[in-house]
Amino acid sequence: MKIDGQAWRTIWLEPGGRSIGVIDQIQLPHQFTTRTLRSCDEAAEAIRTMVVRGAPLIGVTGAYGLMLALQVDPSDASLAAAFDQLNATRPTAVNLRWALERVRDRVAPLPPAERAEAAQVEAGAIADEDVAMCEAIGEHGLALFQELAAARPGQTLNVLTHCNAGWLATVDWGTALAPIYKAHRAGLDIHVWVDETRPRNQGASLTAYELGREGVPHTVIVDNAGGHLMQHGQVDAVIVGTDRTTRRGDVCNKIGTYLKALAARDNNIPFYVALPASTIDWSIDDGVAEIPIEARSPEEVTHIQGRSPEGAITTVQLSPDGSPGFNPAFDVTPARLVTALITERGVVAASAAGLQELYGDV
Ligand code: MRU
Repeated sequence: MKIDGQAWRTIWLEPGGRSIGVIDQIQLPHQFTTRTLRSCDEAAEAIRTMVVRGAPLIGVTGAYGLMLALQVDPSDASLAAAFDQLNATRPTAVNLRWALERVRDRVAPLPPAERAEAAQVEAGAIADEDVAMCEAIGEHGLALFQELAAARPGQTLNVLTHCNAGWLATVDWGTALAPIYKAHRAGLDIHVWVDETRPRNQGASLTAYELGREGVPHTVIVDNAGGHLMQHGQVDAVIVGTDRTTRRGDVCNKIGTYLKALAARDNNIPFYVALPASTIDWSIDDGVAEIPIEARSPEEVTHIQGRSPEGAITTVQLSPDGSPGFNPAFDVTPARLVTALITERGVVAASAAGLQELYGDV
């Protein structure tokens, strides 16, 4: 996507191939800056601290992290250590494990001297495929939005989204926001309700930033406003991303997603989940019982980051000294609450049969 007329991806190989560049998402929306990651340690730290975040982007960063480790030491031991280090950074998004396994399985049979280069090629392929998958999700979602809009001639299509599942969460385009970008570019009259998404406010900071740059009409709301808007006919559809989708179609996404799905069901509003195949964990069925939920620092709950009137990015305390916080970063929405999954291969029911229909060959 473009920022001030220049096309960007969220991650790229720097000239010379010995480091990777990323957009520093901690500074957004107040400052657009990039960072250079020169080692596996730096890639792991960027994922852990959420300089890069969003399931697909975490996966690609992990893949390049393995490449950086192999450039220094291509031995079996180094490969295994780097895999474990990167895989431990964030436990919920399955894209990370998926991308690490893909690079490891590609390079492990090779002589050590050939591994770093092969890892580079594989990481680049994962990144390029992610862009293609997200754009295809956009096309399938666009068709869905066009149907919804056709049922409401002359009215704005109001879509609610949670967290950031836009191009910043992927390599380009995004998952849940890809259909919104496509719809806006196709001339559909679309408006987006943007959940702020406490505690880290990926909606208020990143989704609002993305939509603003693309000129998509949007309004930031507190997380608790969605149910009220749904009751008053101001939401036509909900669309979110997912960090892990089980074989039967349960979806795990940013904390608070489940409550949106419940409110949508109570108000007969379609609840769509957009995902690339890299987000499906074929090894599990029951998302609530089986998906590991990342518990992040309580400080993300008790404190908040923003920009001071002087322009400095600063953190302030919200709750009293001594009040403990608890910070589960994701929750699971059972498949029964999901109207449909929007994938790069098409739109299907959130069910084992639905996923099997599309991915029977996988
Ligand atoms: O903690 P984050 O910011 O990495 O969480 C991101 C999300 O929850 C997204 O909705 C998810 O990764 C799917 S989008 C591409």
